Amino acid sequence: MLSISVLITICLKFWTVECLNNGLALTPPMGWMTWERFRCITDCELYPNDCISEKLIKRQADLMVSEGYLKAGYEYIVVDDCWMDKERDSDGRLKPAPKRFPNGIKALADYVHSKGLKFGIYENFGTYTCAGYPGMFEHVEIDVETFASWEVDYIKVDACYSYKTLSAMEEGYIHLGQLLNKTGRPIVYSCSWPAYFEPFGIQANYSVLAKACNLWRNWDDIDDSWGNVTNILKWFSKNQDRLNPYHGPGHWNDPDMLLLGNFGLSYDQSKAQMAIWAIMAAPLLMSTDLSTVEPRIKNILQNKEVIAINQDSLGMPGVLKMTVKKIDVWMKPILPIVEGSHTIAVGFLSNRIDGYPYKVDVRLSDLGLHHPRGYVLSNIFDTFEPNIYYSVDTLTVKVNPSGVVLLKLTPASEEIDVYY
Ligand SMILES: *[C@@H]1O[C@H](CO)[C@@H](O)[C@H](O)[C@H]1NC(C)=O
Ligand SMILES: *[C@@H]1O[C@H](CO)[C@@H](O)[C@H](O)[C@H]1NC(C)=O
Ligand SMILES: *[C@@H]1O[C@H](CO)[C@@H](O)[C@H](O)[C@H]1NC(C)=O
Repeated sequence: MLSISVLITICLKFWTVECLNNGLALTPPMGWMTWERFRCITDCELYPNDCISEKLIKRQADLMVSEGYLKAGYEYIVVDDCWMDKERDSDGRLKPAPKRFPNGIKALADYVHSKGLKFGIYENFGTYTCAGYPGMFEHVEIDVETFASWEVDYIKVDACYSYKTLSAMEEGYIHLGQLLNKTGRPIVYSCSWPAYFEPFGIQANYSVLAKACNLWRNWDDIDDSWGNVTNILKWFSKNQDRLNPYHGPGHWNDPDMLLLGNFGLSYDQSKAQMAIWAIMAAPLLMSTDLSTVEPRIKNILQNKEVIAINQDSLGMPGVLKMTVKKIDVWMKPILPIVEGSHTIAVGFLSNRIDGYPYKVDVRLSDLGLHHPRGYVLSNIFDTFEPNIYYSVDTLTVKVNPSGVVLLKLTPASEEIDVYY
């Protein structure tokens, strides 16, 4: 048996009792979000194509469909901070910035829905959003009602300007979730409070998170750099034993957005972020101008096999299994299960910088892979010779500096013909 199959998620065991059960996010949410790439750009004269506006959202929604992203599974389009006016209206309702969203949010949501996509929005638990727009403090009821009336499908609730203890945050976010539930509208609920405690060494209670939220941001925001990707992976792998039991269908840890298509990652690093996010069963939220994504990067974002690893219906989290000569070996059990053995996705992620594709050897038995009939290997990003590997065999891969090799090992059954 697989050693990592002991990682049964706690919520699965007590599905109805212990976890948020709104029927949503049964696989990691996929979509597009403004923040990493478009930040709080509100000057539409200086940045006509980048400012947070209905034009931006409509254009990206069109591209999600015409460029094949929706078909590949990217479904939600989420407006992060800076969509609001600085003041609420005379009834205390939130309203969008009038020049940038002249037709209002409901009309924008309708447009997004007309494309077959789902619409997401951002608010903040505290008195202000992180960028200084009105927060939900003392307005939770009216805001939830407003979002439901706009037909929002996803909400990211951040936690700037909250100044609360951990238990007060938990209570407030749980209450917000109950109000969302009462609207009767299915709304994916993304919570951010751990990101305001974990970086200061205060551990969040993930049992509470899994009960209240569909996903949650654990750690710092991602910026457009490979260093940020590796920092995030370091933190998640260091804390995997604590986080992974609460990660599964309907409730996910969120290491933050994909950087692919932007300025900071090389081609190899782009493959690497995509591969490891897939193995972690992380939400796949792009944040890029979809009109400028190079074809080879688009191919990574839309790679069917990588997406299938991420979206596997078991929803099992990936683990950092070992590090060999500065090459991290990440593993995730997926379907199909053949004669009791899971299929396994294995990602070799290089932390090396000594300029050549570095050779690394790992025995299948060292990875805990013991299926008696062996495994059929496929290499997701590259061509490969079909072959069967047994637990005594050694996998040899060559990994580019800050690159990845992503393999899938399917347990062989008598029916599998390796020379297909
Ligand atoms: C509200 O919660 C109940 C109980 O968990 C669940 O069955 C239902 O689907 C939820 N409804 C919405 C709209 O989230
Ligand atoms: C976490 O919350 C649960 C309730 O969901 C509680 O039983 C448990 O004691 C809490 N754990 C800690 C460390 O506070
Ligand atoms: C991203 O990098 C910047 C600059 O080094 C750093 O300040 C920030 O904390 C990093 N964020 C993460 C998530 O690593």
